[in-house]
Amino acid sequence: MIVETADNAKVIVEKALAAVGDIATLPEVTIKIIEIVEDPKSTARDLHEVIKNDPALSVKVLKVVNSAFYGLPGQVASVDRAIILLGLSAVKNIAIAASIARLFKGRRISEQFSAADLWRHSVAVAVSARTMARLSPHPVMSDEVFVAGLIHDIGTLVERQVFPDQFAEVINRCERANIDFLECERQVIGADHQAFGVGLTTKWKFPRHLRAAVGFHHNPEALSVELRNIATLIHLADVLCCQEKIGFYLTAQHSVVTEDMLDPLGITYQQFDELRSTLTDQVTEAEATLTG
Ligand SMILES: [Fe+2]
Repeated sequence: MIVETADNAKVIVEKALAAVGDIATLPEVTIKIIEIVEDPKSTARDLHEVIKNDPALSVKVLKVVNSAFYGLPGQVASVDRAIILLGLSAVKNIAIAASIARLFKGRRISEQFSAADLWRHSVAVAVSARTMARLSPHPVMSDEVFVAGLIHDIGTLVERQVFPDQFAEVINRCERANIDFLECERQVIGADHQAFGVGLTTKWKFPRHLRAAVGFHHNPEALSVELRNIATLIHLADVLCCQEKIGFYLTAQHSVVTEDMLDPLGITYQQFDELRSTLTDQVTEAEATLTG
């Protein structure tokens, strides 16, 4: 029965989250940044204080701010200056993005794929989704979309940590046969990476629209209109990056993008398709900025 399966998956996710313990916890600095952003009374000064106290993060934030993507004239040398130029929300998202990379370190996830492949896929989806958000005539926050792209498959980190053998088994099965990745996860592990991702980002107290993108990027149509745009952008970017086989590519390799999916975002198929040609260079640059 479907109800039983869903309940069973819930129990598996809860047990897994209890088992990940400290290993998959978000860096303390990221938790603080999220708290500041969720608190309407917080100011630019509060955010600056937190970033300033983490020198490695400060350096990374400045690297991102000075990357080609923002196209700012001249070098930005301080975090306060970055907040003035880009605004609180953009710098918050850059700080979250810059602190996520360290979670994607560690052992291989299967014979063919490493944790670095998962990270490369996440960066590729973030870059593509942000580019599409900028092409869309509708207001979709491109920095928010970038973070959503980086964390969309974060549930796979829980699987890698708690069920390493079963996760490798899922990957091996999906490499060999033409089967759906999420269906295979549900069969072998008992829940899919969307469910683990929602559990983890809820535990981390991530904002609602980011949790929605993590939990529904393979079926954004199930979300309310208000939450759907970011999840849809992540879905389209995910399919593109899996088709192009950038990093880990098994999760959406059988999905296709149609004009109907692009229409609500105001993006043409031609624009979507044109992204392919510049994708690898953009991903390499973003990866160097966030990882280095
Ligand atoms: Fe996914």
